[in-house]
Amino acid sequence: MADSVYDVVGIGFGPANLSLAIALEERGAEWMAAVFLEQQPSMGWHRGMLVPSAKMQVSFLKDLATFRNPHSRFSFVSYLHAVGRLVQFVNNQDFFPTRQEFHAYLEWAESQLAHRPQYNAEVTGIRLPEKRDSDFVEVEVRSRLPGGDDRLIRARNIVISTGLVPRMPAGVERDERVWHSSEFLTRFRTWDGGELKRIAVVGAGQSAAEIVRFLHDEVPGAHISAVLPSYGYSIADNTPFANQVFDPGAVDDYYGGSQQSKDALWQYHKNTNYSVVDDEVIKDLKRRVYDEELSGDRRLTFLRMTRLLGVKRVANDTRVSVYSLLADDFYDFEADLVVCATGYAPMDPARVLGELDRHCLRDEAGNYRVERDYRLVTGPVLRCGVYLQGGTEHTHGLTSSLLSNIAVRSGEIADSIAERRRAR
Ligand code: FDA
Ligand code: NAP
Repeated sequence: MADSVYDVVGIGFGPANLSLAIALEERGAEWMAAVFLEQQPSMGWHRGMLVPSAKMQVSFLKDLATFRNPHSRFSFVSYLHAVGRLVQFVNNQDFFPTRQEFHAYLEWAESQLAHRPQYNAEVTGIRLPEKRDSDFVEVEVRSRLPGGDDRLIRARNIVISTGLVPRMPAGVERDERVWHSSEFLTRFRTWDGGELKRIAVVGAGQSAAEIVRFLHDEVPGAHISAVLPSYGYSIADNTPFANQVFDPGAVDDYYGGSQQSKDALWQYHKNTNYSVVDDEVIKDLKRRVYDEELSGDRRLTFLRMTRLLGVKRVANDTRVSVYSLLADDFYDFEADLVVCATGYAPMDPARVLGELDRHCLRDEAGNYRVERDYRLVTGPVLRCGVYLQGGTEHTHGLTSSLLSNIAVRSGEIADSIAERRRAR
């Protein structure tokens, strides 16, 4: 396809664009030439956080396809059937599989679409072709293979789905003893920096809680200090009424609502997802503390209402600087390892748009203007469709960075592309 023009070029091949590949596949006769460019060497979904006990935070029915097409051969139930685990899964009576099992499902789905993705392919920018009235753009791809060639790929539609961006506290740099949670397991499994006696885990979200629990199990000799900005972990609200905020219909309510309505939705319901922890993990951690209090062997401590301000490296020592709001005090302590489970920034399309960015219109607040079909509003020069899977929290609401709505959203994007193609 060197000089051909693809109908769809997906940038990133995580669950969102995998779900789009399925939606395109299931259009049958209305076939579209599509390719997905992924910088990783193979399909991988937050591998750095695939800690063994971690469970999904969404029902298995909110998989890659079911909410769009309950008959899909790419559903989680089809996967269970294919690998002979459907009966056992049902007997387990749990809506929430482990992240490891869901990862295996994603790999299984991907293996049936092996003609769609290109791996080790990092998109570095997008540009208009020299002939300005063309109906396609050129995607600049850098090969991550040693000696691999960089290339240009032509597209009539782009779907950007490059995922969340890890966020470190201001002024804190990653190094061999200061990690972000997104790389946690990968670095932990290859750690050869000596015995870990004092570990600090920063944050009060799901990542922080899972890492504290994991380290408490895996490094029995270590003292773990959990640096909590709050008084204690707060529970993720996944109760039935609040959960409706993730329904496909909630996207319409959010998109069509006033700014005041959007702000209120965030304010009331951000505790379904941000800076919160699953009930089961909170109870497990509390039980561990209780047991330690009973035995007198304390190695898990919680620095409440405390924020990380900086990390200094002096020879082999890592000095952690914090501020305690309770004590109104700044102080330092030593650690062999600091894990910053300090969250993520939303997907930033500008990272791959390159030259094309100036043709994408923004609102008064500086955010991209996005149509209901997830297409960026663009200037007249650009005849190609640029769609977003992620980075639309300001227009489409809470599901933007999550799995809950990917099946329906991918279907809507596929429909929009097909409709525009027919109208051409
Ligand atoms: P995702 O980040 O998965 O994929 C983006 C892909 O783009 C990556 O593979 C990346 O390598 C690639 N990429 C980036 N830049 C590129 C470039 N320039 N060129 C080529 N490729 C590029 N949500 C939920 O609803 N339920 C859950 O259980 C969880 N669990 C969960 C666990 C953890 C540890 C995290 C951090 C997050 C979650 N989430 C979640 C939220 C999470 O955003 C969601 O699960 C999906 O990862 C979203 O899928 P995407 O495909 O949009 O992004
Ligand atoms: P998060 O929910 O954004 O939490 C980040 C935490 O870091 C917050 O408590 C934040 O506090 C704190 N923080 C930031 N800067 C700090 C500082 N300088 N000092 C102390 N604390 C600081 O991020 P996350 O836990 O990584 O979760 C991100 C997403 O991934 C969520 O959607 C979550 O559900 C998902 N996730 C899912 C799983 C799973 O499926 N099992 C596992 C992990 C994550 P403030 O809010 O006060 O800034």
